[in-house]
Amino acid sequence: METVVSGIRSTGNLHLGNYFGAMKNFLRMQEEYNCFFFIADYHSLTTHPDPENLKGHVRQVLAEYLACGLNPEKCTLYIQSDVPEVAELYLLLNMNAYLGELERATTFKEKARKHPDNINAGLLTYPVLMAADILLHKAAKVPVGKDQEQHLEMTRQFGNRFNRMYRVDYFPEPVAFNFGGQLVKVPGLDGSGKMGKSEGEGNAVFLFDTDEAIRKKVMRAVSDSGPTEPDSPKSEAIQNLFTLMSLVSDAETLKSFEEAYNHCTIRYGDMKKQLAEDMIRFVRPLRERIADTLQNEKLLGEVMKTGREKARESAAKTVKEVRELMGIRY
Ligand code: TYM
Repeated sequence: METVVSGIRSTGNLHLGNYFGAMKNFLRMQEEYNCFFFIADYHSLTTHPDPENLKGHVRQVLAEYLACGLNPEKCTLYIQSDVPEVAELYLLLNMNAYLGELERATTFKEKARKHPDNINAGLLTYPVLMAADILLHKAAKVPVGKDQEQHLEMTRQFGNRFNRMYRVDYFPEPVAFNFGGQLVKVPGLDGSGKMGKSEGEGNAVFLFDTDEAIRKKVMRAVSDSGPTEPDSPKSEAIQNLFTLMSLVSDAETLKSFEEAYNHCTIRYGDMKKQLAEDMIRFVRPLRERIADTLQNEKLLGEVMKTGREKARESAAKTVKEVRELMGIRY
């Protein structure tokens, strides 16, 4: 059975981008593959070092994983920092990751631009840690959104380089994966780019948002002054609203707003109201399950413990073999 690895950073609550870019595939993959899904708390330290936040966020994301339907009996569910083997593999892979390629990574350049006062080495070597996460279990498939494509390319680079250096065929080539074919990019509500936790206030709709918060954010979403002639092309902001609608609304609703747009009869206020209600319909049961799961300390503790044990077993085997291949066997 093919192995699957993926993770989500613990920098805050999950949003619809995480859900449709990653979680939706996790849920299907756990039925068919040998899956390892983790919470990337080491990665979150590159930008969010606050100890209290870290603790709360890790528990929150774990509750969200479970509430979305990840089943610890079907997949291995763990916290990245519970598996110290990943830190050792990261260290070993760092020895053949080059400064030039790390500096060229789009996410590094973006983060360095956004946080000029905290360009730490963890941020630079972020893709090496991500490669370690994936190679640790020798994954073949990695369900991620479009924004992670470059990191996957780098993971293949590091794995292949290792194979060449030690003249082995050890690490398989992991591919970014989406059941729907193309990798997904869920847009945000601010008229450009993607939905993200670290984008501006109001850009992301979170699975734990209240109905009121969702209504407010959607009603404030960026739009434009409306189509002036039939079948005119859509601005980016309007295309984003349609894309979001295609994720949460039924086909009939989407079609009727498409037609209204093409006939220039669309009222964005009506479209946003509908979009907000459809998002609420989607999010509400998840939010309720998240709240229940968060109360269940015992369950969260047990899931972490079982996950840690299963993940470490697989990780220890890889690290042992890698050490041997590299000559660390005195
Ligand atoms: P992160 O925490 O930013 O996002 C987690 C997952 O959600 C996807 N995603 C999106 N997909 C579509 N549209 C969006 N707007 C959107 N926003 C987020 C991401 O593509 C990702 O799949 N580096 C990773 C975490 C990570 C990881 C790994 C992933 C660490 N190690 C190993 C896979 C394998 C990250 O920051 O994702």
